[in-house]
Amino acid sequence: MATTTAEIGVIGGSGFYSFLDDLDEVTVETPYGPPSDPIAVGTVAGRRVAFVPRHGRDHRYPPHKIPYRANLWALRSLGVRQVIAPSAVGSLTPAHGIGTLAVPDQLVDRTYGRIQTYYDEGAAIHVSFADPYCPTGRRTAVATAREAGWDPVDGGTLVVIEGPRFSTRAESQWYAAQGWTLVGMTGHPEAVLARELALCYTPMCLVTDLDAGIEEGEGVTMEEVFRVFAQNVDRLRTLVVRLIETLPADRSCPCPRTLDGMKLPIELP
Ligand code: ADE
Repeated sequence: MATTTAEIGVIGGSGFYSFLDDLDEVTVETPYGPPSDPIAVGTVAGRRVAFVPRHGRDHRYPPHKIPYRANLWALRSLGVRQVIAPSAVGSLTPAHGIGTLAVPDQLVDRTYGRIQTYYDEGAAIHVSFADPYCPTGRRTAVATAREAGWDPVDGGTLVVIEGPRFSTRAESQWYAAQGWTLVGMTGHPEAVLARELALCYTPMCLVTDLDAGIEEGEGVTMEEVFRVFAQNVDRLRTLVVRLIETLPADRSCPCPRTLDGMKLPIELP
C-alpha cells in the first residue's frame, strides 16, 4: 500500500494533468504489472485525487493494450473508491452532435481478447452488472454539467468496440439500429473492472465525431477525434473539477456492497 492516498480517481487523457495542485507522482506496482504511467496524486477542491493517463502520458497504449486491470488496481491501492472516467466517443445519432457531453447509463461490450476480470482462478465470482455505472455518480455528473451550462445527455448506451480501427458504415448503422447511441473503444473492461473492485465508476463521454453510419463524409478520422477533443478539453477538465467538488463522499449507492458475502480468491488492496 503506497503512503500517498486519494479518495477520487480520474482516468483520462493527458490533457487532464493540470487540474491537480501539489502534485506528487507515485509509482505503483500491481499484480497485473504497472499502470499506464506513474499516478499523479494531488488536491482538487480540498479532496485528494489520483489521476491516471489512460493511454500513457505519451499516448503509447492503443485501446486494446491499455493495462486496465493495473490502472484500477493501482487506484484502489491508493485508497480511491470513486472513479470519474472522461473519454472521447463517436455519436450514433444525429441528435447528439459534436461537442455533446453524454453520461450513458448502459454499455454493450463488443470487445474481444481483453482480460475483463480479476477473478479468473481460485473461485467463481460473478458481479452484478445490470446497471454498469454508479447511480450517484451519474446523477451528480448530469446535474453538475447542467449547472455549468452544458446541455448533457442523461442516459443512452455506449457500445465499446475492440478497435483500434473505427467502425465500417454497416457496423455503425447496425449499432444505431439497435438503439445504441455512443461508440467508443475504452469504456470496457474499465467499467466492469471498477465494479469487480467495488468502486463507483462514472463515465463522462465527449462526442468528438458522428460515426460512419450517420455522417455523410469520408468517415471518422483520428485527426478529427484528437482535434475535437483538444478543442473541448479545457471545458471538460473544468467540469471534472466541479464534479470532484460535488460528488458525495458518503457512497450511499450499491457500489460498495458489490462483493458482500462473496468469498474472494484474491485479497483486494
Ligand atoms: N472514439 C471517438 N470517436 C470514436 C468513434 N467514432 N468510434 C470509436 N471510438 C471513438
